[in-house]
Amino acid sequence: MSEPGIPTEWWASENFWRKCAIFVTGFMALVLVLLTFHTLTVIEAGSEAGRVPAYSVINHRIGYVMDDEKRRMMPVIGPKAPLFGEELTEAEAMALVDHGKLTVQGRNCMNCHTILGNGAYYAPDLTKAWLDPGWGNEQARELLMTMFLKDPPTNARTFGTGRRMPNQELTDAEVRAVIAYLKWMSAIDTNGFPSGFKPLPQGPLTEVPQSSSGASRALGTSPPLAEHRRPSTKGPSPAASAPAAGHSMREAT
Ligand code: HEC
Repeated sequence: MSEPGIPTEWWASENFWRKCAIFVTGFMALVLVLLTFHTLTVIEAGSEAGRVPAYSVINHRIGYVMDDEKRRMMPVIGPKAPLFGEELTEAEAMALVDHGKLTVQGRNCMNCHTILGNGAYYAPDLTKAWLDPGWGNEQARELLMTMFLKDPPTNARTFGTGRRMPNQELTDAEVRAVIAYLKWMSAIDTNGFPSGFKPLPQGPLTEVPQSSSGASRALGTSPPLAEHRRPSTKGPSPAASAPAAGHSMREAT
């Protein structure tokens, strides 16, 4: 609304800027809606374009290889390696992982731990805990995780921090579910976070599964990368500390 006598350029008029504000707000609201739908497809478990694998991924070996183009470690779903030796259907796997997630939420494990970027850093980040070299090797892992979660103070490793995890009084069923949840979560493509993580020694990841479970296409069919980049192709080694050294994404880039 220009004062009489003072000419106003079109770009300086109040009217023009009001219309701009309305247009930008409306347009960005639309963008937000579109982005929300796009995000939903990307974070949906097992979606074609997504980063989150189908729940039946817990029937497979999960490993990481260096992706030279992306310059970070990428999850690779390997051959069959069912959790606790028991192959589950997609629905059964989903129920188990769900139970694990509810247990972790119900006990508020994030009071001490971080999960997918949320939580505390009093205790180790649990996002890739399934692949923690501290479990020694593939064969020992399930038993050691079970024993630890059943009685953390007795089976503590503490990594020299002196911090102890209190007993969470988990039932056997809850322990299994939590482990399934941790295994599934370790296969999520988290853009290389937590940074510097190294997977424990495992068998080969090369054999791309042909299962109908959907797990293999969940993360796209990334072909196995260069031999020397693979965390471990030599089969399990009892040495807990040595194996994945030199393969952290920091060192490799
Ligand atoms: C009061 C803090 C606290 C709470 C609550 C807690 N933890 Fe822990 N947790 C720790 C500490 C400290 C360690 C590391 C010490 C050790 O390994 O003995 C740890 C270690 C772990 C590890 C091993 C991590 C690795 O990478 O090897 C797992 C798995 C784990 N916790 C799971 C859980 C789950 C599941 C819950 C919830 C049911 C939970 N924690 C609740 C403190 C806690």
